Amino acid sequence: MRPQPDFIHEFIPGSSARTVLLLHGTGGNERDLIPLGHELDPNASLLSPRGKVLENGMPRFFRRLAEGVFDLEDLKKRTHELADFVVSAVAHYKIDIKHMIAVGYSNGANIAASMLLLRPETLAAAILFRAMVPLIPESQPDLSSVRVFIGAGSSDPIVPASETKQLAELLRAAGADITIRFFQAGHGLTHEDLHAAHEWLRV
Ligand code: MLT
Repeated sequence: MRPQPDFIHEFIPGSSARTVLLLHGTGGNERDLIPLGHELDPNASLLSPRGKVLENGMPRFFRRLAEGVFDLEDLKKRTHELADFVVSAVAHYKIDIKHMIAVGYSNGANIAASMLLLRPETLAAAILFRAMVPLIPESQPDLSSVRVFIGAGSSDPIVPASETKQLAELLRAAGADITIRFFQAGHGLTHEDLHAAHEWLRV
């Protein structure tokens, strides 16, 4: 029996206790971030689902009404669905949820941030590349044992620096240990992002 609720996904077992939950950007799929996962954490298991929402044929993790304007009801529902998938994948693949690290890019980073805010028990850490504030939770989660790396582009046309800082503050107020880095980049990922996130993971 496959993990329920199911997502189309890849699971690649590793040799360490850690599992990296890879969350792709709009138009991506479950295979996109596998090389990045191996590069960031060569010994970790990789769990990589494909977003279930289609926008003009492009997979995403939740619906949006316009660029940067999210359908909050759908976002909440999809966040719980993804967290439930992670919980069942943990049992199915016999991996340790205490060592689950989300690595998300763009739309994937936004749902990872939403998981931190709505289902904090599912993640030990998160690397958020080009993330926005996904939502403001009704009650503050306890993120006091969660580490978060935020990688932003200083000339990102989609995510202004003020929004990156607001996300950092939101997570910090919930107790998370935040590292925030701005790179000379736009919305796309750079080698500097990967290098800095890799170094952060090793600490
Ligand atoms: C989103 O919709 O999550 C953000 O606008 C980022 C994107 O996917 O373009």
